[in-house]
This record gives sequence, C-alpha cells and structure tokens, in this order.
Amino acid sequence: MAFQVELTSARAWSDEQMNALFAQGFPAFIVGDQDVKQQIDRVRELFGEYNIMLADEQGEPAATGWGVPISWSGEVPDLPETFARVLERSLETYDASFVADTFVICGAIVHPARKGRGVAQALIGALIDTAVTHSLPRVIAPVRPTLKHLYPLQSVDAYAKWVRNDDLPWDPWLRLHVRMGGELIDLAKKAQTIIGTITQWEEWSGMEFPESGDYVIPDGMAPLHIDRSANLGTYVEPNIWIRHR
Ligand SMILES: CC(C)(COP(=O)(O)OP(=O)(O)OC[C@H]1O[C@@H](n2cnc3c(N)ncnc32)[C@H](O)[C@@H]1OP(=O)(O)O)[C@@H](O)C(=O)NCCC(=O)NCCS
Repeated sequence: MAFQVELTSARAWSDEQMNALFAQGFPAFIVGDQDVKQQIDRVRELFGEYNIMLADEQGEPAATGWGVPISWSGEVPDLPETFARVLERSLETYDASFVADTFVICGAIVHPARKGRGVAQALIGALIDTAVTHSLPRVIAPVRPTLKHLYPLQSVDAYAKWVRNDDLPWDPWLRLHVRMGGELIDLAKKAQTIIGTITQWEEWSGMEFPESGDYVIPDGMAPLHIDRSANLGTYVEPNIWIRHR
C-alpha cells in the first residue's frame, strides 16, 4: 500500500486521530525519564522537519516517526550513551552550529489497526529518505526491541544475539531493521532510566509493591527495583544501536 509521506505539522490532526495512533504505543512508565523530559520540548520545537506522518488514501494517520540530526564521528565509542544524550547531542550540535552529519531515528509507531502488515517498512524507508533530504549521510537508531518485555530476566547482550533459523534477529523489530540493511553496532544498556515514587509506579504498572525488591512488570524489558524505605522505584531500559547508513 502506498502512503502519502508528509511532515506531521503539514496539517492539523485531531486529538482523536492522534490518540488512536498512539493508543498502544509505549508503556505508561516511559514518561518518567526525567532526562528526556528536560530536552524534549526544545527538540520538538527545533526539529519538526524531522517528524513525519504516513497518511493513507483517506487521509488518516497510518504511522508516524521522528528523529534528530546530530554530529557523530561514526565510531561506536562516540555513540550517545542514553536516549536523553541523543537529544542533548542534537541540541549541542544545533547550539554550536556544528554541521550535523547523522540522523538518529528516535521514534516510530504504526497505528494499532495497521500493525503486523508491513507499514513499518514504509515508515523506516521514509525516515531514511528524510535523512537524505536533509543531506545527512549517516542513519542510526537506538532500537527498543519490541518483544524484550517477554524476557525481562534475560540480559540484553544475550537477547540481541538471538537469531532464527535464517540467521535474522529473533526480535521482530530488530529483524525488520536488519532486513532493511541495518547493522547491529552496539548496545545502549542504560538507554532510559525511569525513577518514580511507589505511587507513580503503581499507577504506571497497575501493580502493588508490598516490599522492597525486584519485580517483573508489564511491558518492562528489565525488572523494576523497588526501595520502599526511599519510596523509589528504579527501572533501566536497554536499547540496541542499529546503523542503516
Ligand atoms: C514496532 C512497530 C513500529 C512495527 O510495526 P509493524 O507495522 O507492526 O511491523 P511489520 O508489520 O513490518 O512487522 C515486522 C515484523 O514484526 C512481526 N510482528 C509484528 N507485530 C508483532 C507482534 N505483536 N508479535 C510478534 N511479531 C510481530 C511481523 O510479523 C514482522 O515479522 P517478519 O519479519 O517475520 O515478517 C509497531 O509494532 C509499533 O508501532 N509498536 C509500538 C511502538 C514501538 O514499540 N515502536 C518501536 C520503538 S520506537
């Protein structure tokens, strides 16, 4: 199916359309990354040209994705260590008027009614085209492996190496990136750290945490550590770095 690719800002989308698009996107706890919170408003303000929408024939949103331009040496040790650092790097690159040479794909979401039917391939393709349009030769992505949450006790090191009989990654989202020419170049083991009070974690997870310790939580790629005496829950989520170009 062909989609119209346009900037998300090119037309006004209703709240209803946007809520439907994002309805099954990310776990509620993802909003608790304080480091991301500090950057995100300015990133949205500055980099709207890197935020795209795929609309269907009826003009309904089918998928959306966004990213940021950064300056990166092309070497693995120079990759930003966390997702927040990706955003920070984009702002540093902008503020210092450095020439950005790398597009970092930061988010991708397919409408729930359209998942599992190949829309994501069109979306990644359109995001890579966005980099080309902006003369950014490199394209990388800190990928959230979509089925890691089923294996919260396995390390991301092990998980990233799981392959099927055809040698493609076991994780479907990683697999799609690799099938499209992406190469796994590194792990971001602490991509997002989410710290909340016990009440916040109860709201985010729909669970209760009667004592201190580690808990497996819905959609958590790793266990949540609860410290009741400090009234804090800490969760650290890994990403897998993919390089497309
Ligand atoms: C990740 C996401 C963008 C993939 O979009 P999609 O259109 O469903 O992807 P595709 O149809 O191309 O599917 C890609 C592969 O995943 C498989 N797949 C899709 N949904 C799946 C599911 N729920 N469980 C298992 N496999 C699934 C497909 O069968 C396909 O596998 P294949 O390689 O064997 O063909 C979409 O699921 C999504 O929006 N998820 C929520 C947001 C998110 O996690 N985004 C990524 C991090 S930013």
